[in-house]
Amino acid sequence: MIRKIFSTVAVMALLSAAGGVQAGGDPEAGFEKSALCHGCHGEQGQAIAPNFPNLASQKPGYIVKQVTDFQKNLRYNDTMSPMALSIASKEDLYDIAAYFSSQKPMKAMIPGSDEKLIKKGKEIFEKGNPRTGLYGCINCHGVKGRGKSPSNQVFPVIGGQNKDYLVAQLQNFRSGDRKNDPAGMMGDIAKRMSDAEIDAVTEYLSSL
Ligand code: HEC
Ligand code: HEC
Repeated sequence: MIRKIFSTVAVMALLSAAGGVQAGGDPEAGFEKSALCHGCHGEQGQAIAPNFPNLASQKPGYIVKQVTDFQKNLRYNDTMSPMALSIASKEDLYDIAAYFSSQKPMKAMIPGSDEKLIKKGKEIFEKGNPRTGLYGCINCHGVKGRGKSPSNQVFPVIGGQNKDYLVAQLQNFRSGDRKNDPAGMMGDIAKRMSDAEIDAVTEYLSSL
């Protein structure tokens, strides 16, 4: 696992060098260009339903990568895939990503509130599970799941994300339905997680 993580870090350095993650979009232009997106992800990037992801404060490079992955069918969703194809140009996509990422920090629509579960989830988030070799999420997703650093666009913001959406993604990574993660690192993580651990960690993340 550790070796895998080191090789993963190397892959990510390459990804950044390849320029897949530039900012540089125009958030003002992005507001109008994202009108269609507001119908589900909200005008300020706060999704209108708990099973839709918030985009507010998400890393622009991550947004660009996901939309591009939907366009290329590397990630598939009945609802979202056609939306990704509706974006006419790279420039539009950069502007839209700049708009959503500049919005104030995402908050879950139904914030996690089960104190016992939140405590357990926080422990998993910070320390992982040494018994099963589960690596702490904080190492990649940063303090409170707000991302590693402003310049690192590879690790998405997951703190304040909607629980239903987070659970679905972890299940998709675990089953292999979603496998657009660099070097398969989220698949590795999710396959080590029990349903109870997924429930706890997402309760914590949605409480932030
Ligand atoms: C009809 C509803 C709908 C519309 C409109 C829509 N989306 Fe989505 N979007 C979704 C759903 C549902 C998902 C989650 C897909 C999944 O579960 O894999 C999603 C996922 C995403 C993601 C991945 C988020 C993450 O955290 O990984 C991005 C980025 C995104 N949408 C961007 C956009 C953009 C940009 C637009 C406008 C061009 C748009 N969406 C329009 C429903 C929508
Ligand atoms: C070794 C680094 C690493 C660790 C540790 C890690 N992740 Fe991730 N995670 C990633 C990367 C990279 C992505 C983005 C994948 C992509 O580009 O599609 C991701 C994506 C996700 C997503 C999807 C986000 C979205 O908006 O769709 C969730 C949910 C997630 N991780 C949860 C977790 C949880 C919970 C843990 C701890 C149990 C964890 N991750 C640990 C690297 C990591």
